[in-house]
Amino acid sequence: MVRKAIIPAAGLGTRFLPATKAQPKEMLPIIDTPTIQYVVQEAVDSGIDDILIISGKGKRTIEDHFDRNYELESRLAQKEDESFYNEVMRIADMANIHYIRQKEVNGLGDAIYHARQHVGDEPFAVLLGDTVVSSVIPVTQQLIDTYEQYRCSIIAVEEVPKDKVSRYGIAGGKNISEKLVEVQSLIEKPSPEQAPSNLAIAGRYILTPEIFRAIENTPKGKGNEVQLTDALHLLMKREMLISNTIEGKRYDIGNKLDFLKTTVEFALKRKEFSADFLSYLKEILQEHS
Ligand code: G1P
Repeated sequence: MVRKAIIPAAGLGTRFLPATKAQPKEMLPIIDTPTIQYVVQEAVDSGIDDILIISGKGKRTIEDHFDRNYELESRLAQKEDESFYNEVMRIADMANIHYIRQKEVNGLGDAIYHARQHVGDEPFAVLLGDTVVSSVIPVTQQLIDTYEQYRCSIIAVEEVPKDKVSRYGIAGGKNISEKLVEVQSLIEKPSPEQAPSNLAIAGRYILTPEIFRAIENTPKGKGNEVQLTDALHLLMKREMLISNTIEGKRYDIGNKLDFLKTTVEFALKRKEFSADFLSYLKEILQEHS
């Protein structure tokens, strides 16, 4: 059973400077909700209530966000509209969230390695904060379902155009079914010529604890950091590794343009202002065409 999730959140967020100079990128909101809250929600919706956030320098507001705030609560309790009060209380009670600090930014593999004591000897989920997925079945749940069947590490993947492979970890291998592939080759951010396929790692994983041994034996890779993809490549030689094409729409919020697109699409889904927002978009489209 997968009971624990790790959310790495120690990165410097350089792709979002200057917004991330003094605030964590995980707290940048899509409309009114910090991105990390969507990710925590996905874990919770997948039946996981033990979450370890790998935190770091300048990330304390993440802890405050998931904590109680008595002054705010008592103010909101006096107001007639209860919806904010209920939401603020719900956030503080979403899951059992634990924190550990990565003292030095040393790559995703190293961040995950910080979770080894908390995780112990059981499989666990990893959810990266630069991806939000809108789907009927939460993506982490989709991976858990595949894990239950195969009992090995599972990585979420999605097809990407050839010219985007160099942004992701790319997995290639032997088809097991329409959406499952037994991974035989895995490269972090390859050039289009090197890429073993166009299946990109989509920021969600179920990992067996064997990954910690693999990380220990993984030298620094791309960007002079310990890459999780390289550790998975080692793991793949010892254990079966499966990629699972996700069902749902993935929003890449790791760069400014895609973040903007995500904000627009999420706004169009919000009942309270979708109609007004759509007519505004039509208006400005006309102005610009
Ligand atoms: C990380 C992983 C990469 C994966 C990507 C998904 O890269 O290393 O394999 O495809 O997340 O968003 P990053 O975006 O942190 O550079």
